Amino acid sequence: MTHWWADALVYQVYVRSFADSDGNGIGDLDGITEHLDHIAALGADALWLNPCYPSPQHDHGYDVSDYTAIHDEYGTLDTFDRLVAEAKARGMAVVMDVVPNHCSSEHPWFLAALAAAPGSPERARFYFRDGRGPGGTEPPNNWMAAFGGPAWTRVDDDPDDGQWYLGTFTPHQPDFDHTNPDVQQLFADALRFWFDRGVEGFRVDAITPVGKHPELPDQPPIDHAVRELGATWENPHLAWREEGNDVWRRWREVLVEYEREHPDRDLVLVGEAYAVGRPDLLTRFTRPDQFRQLFAFDLMLAPWNQRNLVQALRDPLGALDASGVAPAWTLNNHDVQRVVTRLGRADAHLPERWTNSAIDGTDAPVDVALGTRRARAAAALAFALPGSLYLYQGEELGLPEVLDLPDDRREDPVFALTDGAVIGRDGCRVPLPWTADPSTSYGFSPAAPGGVAAPWLPQPDGWGEYALETQLDLPDSMLQLYGELSSARREHALPQGLRATVVDIDDRLVAFVRGDLVVVLNPTAEPVALDPAHDALAGARPILSSAPGEMHTPTVVPADTTVWLIR
Ligand code: BGC
Repeated sequence: MTHWWADALVYQVYVRSFADSDGNGIGDLDGITEHLDHIAALGADALWLNPCYPSPQHDHGYDVSDYTAIHDEYGTLDTFDRLVAEAKARGMAVVMDVVPNHCSSEHPWFLAALAAAPGSPERARFYFRDGRGPGGTEPPNNWMAAFGGPAWTRVDDDPDDGQWYLGTFTPHQPDFDHTNPDVQQLFADALRFWFDRGVEGFRVDAITPVGKHPELPDQPPIDHAVRELGATWENPHLAWREEGNDVWRRWREVLVEYEREHPDRDLVLVGEAYAVGRPDLLTRFTRPDQFRQLFAFDLMLAPWNQRNLVQALRDPLGALDASGVAPAWTLNNHDVQRVVTRLGRADAHLPERWTNSAIDGTDAPVDVALGTRRARAAAALAFALPGSLYLYQGEELGLPEVLDLPDDRREDPVFALTDGAVIGRDGCRVPLPWTADPSTSYGFSPAAPGGVAAPWLPQPDGWGEYALETQLDLPDSMLQLYGELSSARREHALPQGLRATVVDIDDRLVAFVRGDLVVVLNPTAEPVALDPAHDALAGARPILSSAPGEMHTPTVVPADTTVWLIR
């Protein structure tokens, strides 16, 4: 059976920043419905919505206070149903985002746990533990939070209580204990609730820390080279544990059971985990009783040099060979600096950039024109790969990261929890420009007689240059390229099946073969001539280039460019 999701093109919608239908400066579900034609025109098979559940928004929806309702700033279940129906009418599925590791500290279960006594069933749904040291004033162990500071928060100073709770990300996001039957039921019910409403799958948030060592031992000392915010992911008692596989086995059963009851459905769970350089983890979490897909972030995080880019393809493609499960590729998401900015950094080619510096960036100067050129080449590579491809809203417009948001407008908890040392992720979440008209926040909000509310994050001057409307008529725009890549993907890449092999045609080039399609990226600053006598290239003719005006001869790949050839 061919699964729609195996090689789907999925468009990620960051709900808060996509389109505002009611003029309050905050994106919403009706705004998405109104702009579905844009997503459909890109050839998307599905849209993935970032969390739109009720939430106090401390981590913009990744702090869920009700798993089966819609956040009131975004709409209602009715507006949600309409969005799903309108997407379906355009041939697109809706994928939601489910957050299993933690809920909001305002979730009724957590409030009940705080009100209940140590040892109570209410507390057993989370990780509440006594502190260490005299009076229990020290945290139960030495774990650090992913967004800064210790992973434990003390309940209060009452000597009869004074327990601590675990929050792997922030104190506003208490971790669930998935060995607890209530927690298991909560998620089984939530998945079914949304499947019943027509949702075709979930992107499963932050799977890495789900399933902890039952005794929560201290984290062993880590290499001093690991950056503070990376420490969490080096903790073997918290990250990548087999206990997590137990959880996903249960989730897979929910899915399979639902499909048994509804044979017309073909559902997907895509796990979010940064298994970069770890194809063994890609296969462990896509075993037949686990996720149907896992994100491959390798390409998104790879430094811009031949060796690292080859590895970024080889590892996930090797995992695909081993498991038969095609990866979910991506170049952008709401957690990392936009690709134009990342690849425009003066240090983008350095091997040490493999680290997750994508989130906070580096201090290296940015050349936006160079970054744009490389982003085009990266997109042309990604669109040809076997597996699904997740686009993040605004990448089709070539938006750069907004690096100069005023400190007092930053909302990402990472900024506050690191005392501003890490600027955080707001810069890739700035509301989209649809038109060149600043009076409507560049078309993000509707025109209103008295003006519209300022967008929740300020848009930079000149944002209109990137607007959809502006790019529609520009032949060499990023938007045009994305349209061409999407058509070429359907016409030339998908028919080749789900197999691709990295080939070594020149030590300056990155190349892979997928059936009759050969894709070659030149990540260097000089043009490279192709050797037409190479086996992989015999009889191949170019059909597409990420630098259209420049394919002087069919046998030269210009600098920072990807070409597609057909044999
Ligand atoms: C999401 C982030 C979120 C975190 C905690 C992630 O990996 O993509 O946006 O802050 O999980 O839920």
